[in-house]
Amino acid sequence: MPVLHVAAECAPFAKAGGLADVVGALPQALEVPTAVVLPFYGGLDGRLAERAGALARVHTGMVWLDGWFPFEVWRSDAISDEVPLYLVAEPAHFGDDGVYFRASDGAWFERGEVRYLAFQLTVLDWLRSKNTPLAGRGRQPDGLHLHDHHTGLIPVLLRHDPANAAVADLPTVLTVHSADHHGEIGWPVWDSLGVAVPDRAALDHLGVVNSLKAGVGHADAVTTVSPTYARELVASPEPSHGLDYAFRLAGDRLAGIVNGIDAEVWDPATDPHLPAPFSADDLRGKAETKNAVCAELGLDAGRPLAVFVGRLTPEKGAEVLAPGLARILDQTDAAVAVLGSGYAEHEAALGDVASGAPDGRMSLTLAFDEALAHRLYGAADLFLMPSRQEPCGLGQLYAMRYGAPPVVHGVGGLCDTVEPWDGAAGTGFRFGAFAPDAFVDATRAALAVLADGDARARLQQHGMRRDSSWAASARAYERLYRSVDIG
Ligand code: GLC
Repeated sequence: MPVLHVAAECAPFAKAGGLADVVGALPQALEVPTAVVLPFYGGLDGRLAERAGALARVHTGMVWLDGWFPFEVWRSDAISDEVPLYLVAEPAHFGDDGVYFRASDGAWFERGEVRYLAFQLTVLDWLRSKNTPLAGRGRQPDGLHLHDHHTGLIPVLLRHDPANAAVADLPTVLTVHSADHHGEIGWPVWDSLGVAVPDRAALDHLGVVNSLKAGVGHADAVTTVSPTYARELVASPEPSHGLDYAFRLAGDRLAGIVNGIDAEVWDPATDPHLPAPFSADDLRGKAETKNAVCAELGLDAGRPLAVFVGRLTPEKGAEVLAPGLARILDQTDAAVAVLGSGYAEHEAALGDVASGAPDGRMSLTLAFDEALAHRLYGAADLFLMPSRQEPCGLGQLYAMRYGAPPVVHGVGGLCDTVEPWDGAAGTGFRFGAFAPDAFVDATRAALAVLADGDARARLQQHGMRRDSSWAASARAYERLYRSVDIG
């Protein structure tokens, strides 16, 4: 039952966010044979190639996109011997190292809206060549597991483009990691492809081709990364920016399966990024880690340390974060560390809070830094996650595993994964209204609980011993595969 995962990101090879973590970990947790295919960002001379180890070329082809574009598919065994990684080298659209933004200057790609269309066309060309044996098994994929809008056109192109008749029956599962981005393509570009589509209304949303809507409408099964987010997508237009009708139409094709974490990469007992390892049985290394990180960042280690790690975007609650942190610094004795990058206005607002903070109280690192993220999870007493919306969220899972109870907005996967402290049990703290005051009140309440050594120990133990591994969710995906005849 080989399943081919098709995605724009896969950790550690190409990562912009949580999508990469999931695509890097889920295939390895599945008991069914799987492979992963992604764009070969930067090609053979790029940065991804340095991590991909030995490469073998398995296919060459060409796709038409208002002109012919040649591509090559390369196979790497850098994920594992069991899970081959395929990389589609198509220099016209993926010659740059950057995933969503140009690596050189952070700017948007020119012709950005056609990059993932080009990727999807190359994958389809490769599939119909029947030249896709999954390493050593000599079998074609029995089904496709697609991720996010970058792959949302594949179900409709498979079924309705006569060129793909040879693979038109391949079952597809689409997982929606975020309904914030839709993969919009103007009709003139689409029309230049000469691709057959069922009817334009099936692809159109507000006058342009909407890749996410197309995928939700045509995949055999649609999942989102938590049950609560699935309900939210159906209930109102906000979480998907107007595609609620498409999610409602998916009916019982739509399910929520909560994410796990890679329990080997995210294990404080063996994490090579931590200055001192620790575990639920022996937390001494956590105190040492906190001291080292506070020294590194110029923070007062004698204070409780509250940490934010994440993108500085509206979805992650950046509007609540900056005013909230200003008040937390004012009204509590906590020190605060922020790591992330994102919209200029949110970076600037946090910069103002940091420059107004007393010595030793706040550090701000405007960067994407995986190693520092690990150290911060290790050092944190409290993890702040005021997301406006959160399909699943991985930060709270990492934080719980690293003994840092999270303070979360009660939304999406945060509801499904963080059990509010009730005085005796629980793994974190939750607030209801998406507003700085509610965030600050919950943080103050959390700091008060942490000041009580017994309560703190219980919170940490519950969080660290929580099973956030992929095992249960991988079984749920396998059941779903069987339900759509993959296998
Ligand atoms: C996206 C979502 C996040 C989710 C991740 C992996 O980044 O915003 O909530 O955990 O994808 O599915």
